[in-house]
Amino acid sequence: MSISDHLKNHKSIRQYKSTPIDEALLKDLIHCGQRGSSSGNLQSWSVVISRERESREKLYELHSRQKMILQAPVVLTFCSDFYRIRRWLKINDAKGSFDDFLGFLVGMADAIIAAQNVAIAAESHGLGICYMGTTLSAADEISKHLKLPETVVPVTSLVVGYPDEDIPEVRYRLPLEAIIHEEVYDPKTDEEISDIYREFEEQAWARYARIPGMLDKLEAASITHVAHFYTSDLKYSKKRHETASAMLLELLRSKKFM
Ligand SMILES: Cc1cc2nc3c(=O)[nH]c(=O)nc-3n(C[C@H](O)[C@H](O)[C@H](O)COP(=O)(O)O)c2cc1C
Repeated sequence: MSISDHLKNHKSIRQYKSTPIDEALLKDLIHCGQRGSSSGNLQSWSVVISRERESREKLYELHSRQKMILQAPVVLTFCSDFYRIRRWLKINDAKGSFDDFLGFLVGMADAIIAAQNVAIAAESHGLGICYMGTTLSAADEISKHLKLPETVVPVTSLVVGYPDEDIPEVRYRLPLEAIIHEEVYDPKTDEEISDIYREFEEQAWARYARIPGMLDKLEAASITHVAHFYTSDLKYSKKRHETASAMLLELLRSKKFM
């Protein structure tokens, strides 16, 4: 399969076999991550491999009890990391830097690029992956659990393992014109935005209908539209975002990134 076809066939996997991942393969996947572009080639990221049951049980709690954390043999936590680099600067009497918000963002970009390379490489070996958005919403507790030092903050995680489900259909994406702006940003009319989201709404609602009990849950919460679901208490509520944002700002301060 060409790389383009591979990318267009990506599907997140949410049920896993416990089959271990060969150690050499796992290291090769991370090597693929390391080959990704990196700002100044500083490789201002790192990854913590969680394999032990006890550690994954703790991560399961921190990641909102998403079962795949317990099923899959490996959880990879990708971090924006300037700790190693700053130690190296200090050892060599260089000026200190990177303990600032820009440093965090640069490390985050490196970490996400690396994670996506690992994801693509894993899929090319028949493994499944799923990102964990809960990495950011529990970043303070995950930092403690993984004993992350200052200027190291977790930014995303990947569950990696052999799929134990019928490989799902590729998930719908918005039409390209939703994403592309020629030369300058086109804010679009309300009608154009509604057109862009029409099929997204239909596909999403049809998917909810296939999840046992989901429509009852939506009805109980008086949710009749996909857009309402996204910002409801069942998904990404404003309150949840505000709480996580405040925690992240505090974490960045305590990790000396601000
Ligand atoms: C940063 C990020 C965080 C995510 N967090 C979760 C998560 O916590 N749980 C989950 O089941 N899926 C998670 N996903 C997977 C998305 O739901 C999935 O990518 C999206 O629905 C599109 O489906 P696809 O990956 O199969 O194409 C996450 C994806 C990204 C990029």
